[in-house]
Amino acid sequence: MIDLIALEKNIERFSSSQSLEDENKDEMLKIFSDFKTALNTGLIRAAKPIDDTWIVHHWVKKGILLGFRLGHIVDQSIDESFRFFDKSTYPLRKMGEGDGVRIVPGGSSIRDGSYLGKQITCMPPMYINVGAYVDDGTMIDSHALVGSCAQIGKRVHLSAGAQIGGVLEPIGAMPVIIEDDVLVGGNTGIYEGTIVRKAAIIGAGVILTGSTPVYDLVKETLYRRTYDQPLEIPSGAVVIPGSRPITSGMGQEWGLSVATPIIIKYRDDKTDTASALENLLRSV
Ligand SMILES: CC(C)(COP(=O)(O)OP(=O)(O)OC[C@H]1O[C@@H](n2cnc3c(N)ncnc32)[C@H](O)[C@@H]1OP(=O)(O)O)[C@@H](O)C(=O)NCCC(=O)NCCS
Repeated sequence: MIDLIALEKNIERFSSSQSLEDENKDEMLKIFSDFKTALNTGLIRAAKPIDDTWIVHHWVKKGILLGFRLGHIVDQSIDESFRFFDKSTYPLRKMGEGDGVRIVPGGSSIRDGSYLGKQITCMPPMYINVGAYVDDGTMIDSHALVGSCAQIGKRVHLSAGAQIGGVLEPIGAMPVIIEDDVLVGGNTGIYEGTIVRKAAIIGAGVILTGSTPVYDLVKETLYRRTYDQPLEIPSGAVVIPGSRPITSGMGQEWGLSVATPIIIKYRDDKTDTASALENLLRSV
């Protein structure tokens, strides 16, 4: 049983230490090992919802960063020709048949310190980084990235080439959040603490960063990040790639446009059909 209060206190203590040389190395490694166990089992998370509000757990992000300071480069090669070198504190996560996760052979990696629920399918190659939380029934397709601290909900489909950016620093920054039943289409990019609310659809090719304005044609509203709030895509929104003309200067003179995601509609039966996943393919 891990004492989470003591764990948080110790992580805070070591994180604020200027030089880890003066600390007890064995004690630190034991605490960091408990910390990763708590991440792997979903006991702790980089961010957690309280009702509809996501709260960042700063100390968890500090603990992840501490792991990079604590570790040294070690040989993690599979054999003589398949060679890897990474921090000793971040090996691959140990997985077994009983985990309820299907890892289809071929070039995928799941880093230690990440949570995976049940009935998850991982198509190769995909990567799940430290601090990521992936909930039950989610499908992670080929070439998808679940970046550090990203929080992925239940029954999400991360399509081929979907990039969910990692957010470790600054410590207070919101990770990328993808809530339950979202479809993240192929070749998308979701970065910088964006929150995609339940059952939204991010159409193929959409890129969302903290600086991206998103035009909602249905509610006639413009969404963008503010000083203290991340960019948020409303529940059930269907976002597609769009463009808007530049209306001043040389951009206007040359007839240029910039890319702008557009909420074209809210989910309906047609969208459900277009985004339905084949259950047989997902069975674990
Ligand atoms: C968003 C998506 C699900 C379509 O949803 P839908 O509810 O069926 O959308 P509709 O067909 O009703 O389209 C509504 C309008 O948006 C337009 N539109 C829809 N998707 C679009 C897209 N990706 N790009 C540009 N326009 C698009 C349609 O042309 C339509 O406009 P119109 O009425 O002027 O013709 C689909 O475009 C998409 O991106 N799917 C993801 C595919 C994918 O990545 N699969 C994973 C493979 S691993």
